[in-house]
Amino acid sequence: MNQYASESNVKRLSINQLAAMKLRGEKISSLTAYDASFSGLLDKVGVDIILVGDSLGMIIQGHDTTLPVTIKDMAYHTRCVAKARRRAFLIADLPFMTYHTSIVAAKNAAGLMQAGAQMVKLEGARIDCVKFLVDQGIPVCGHLGLLPQSIHQVGSYKVQGKEHTDATKIIDNAYQLQQAGAGLLVLECVPAELAREISMQLSIPVIGIGAGIDCDGQVLVLYDMLNIGVIKRPRFSKNFMLEAADIEQAISDYHQAVKQLQFPAAEHSF
Ligand code: KIV
Repeated sequence: MNQYASESNVKRLSINQLAAMKLRGEKISSLTAYDASFSGLLDKVGVDIILVGDSLGMIIQGHDTTLPVTIKDMAYHTRCVAKARRRAFLIADLPFMTYHTSIVAAKNAAGLMQAGAQMVKLEGARIDCVKFLVDQGIPVCGHLGLLPQSIHQVGSYKVQGKEHTDATKIIDNAYQLQQAGAGLLVLECVPAELAREISMQLSIPVIGIGAGIDCDGQVLVLYDMLNIGVIKRPRFSKNFMLEAADIEQAISDYHQAVKQLQFPAAEHSF
């Protein structure tokens, strides 16, 4: 058993506690993880949410996009991460084309929940699908703004919601996801002002990545902030290894920077 997972007196975070953090204005820290070792380290440091992101397609598998990731891959990595995490809330991504109908989504989401996830994340305003999953007792995290699974439709990894009509659509979709029962929302690569408005108006916690300081929490791809991996670090991320003695300190510095509103700075925002 992982050394961190052997302690027995730690209570797992629930969605209600994350909602309470938003209410009392405590920022929520989140990072991706894909294996037991990093999962245990994130948990030890106190990171609130671990996301088994389908970014593993690029980070772990070396693909150009997240599209080749399968539900089997996600279940495998979710099981690895779940083994070592004790306190952190665990979310797993539903990968490309695994939620094109509600029934397919429910079957695939069930697999991720059985692998240890407490919530599944899906991209876009899939309102009927979210409602169906929630009705089956499966907690859902929405994901709006830049949608990596739609990269070939969008054309490039660029900021979304800069035009008024696009921003209005994102706000409307965010409301609809909340209305459908989503318990969390990830906002990726949108102007800080738009993310601020959505975070203020929604009652569910909004976790930003490239979405400015005013979201209820922040998430980064772990390998980006540790400055390792095959892909170029995006502008909204930060190399936390620069001033850290080791990986554990870099993760701890990120966690503290999120809690104390020191990350993201203006240079990481749009
Ligand atoms: O797959 C992932 O890592 C994600 C984050 C970028 C939010 O969805």
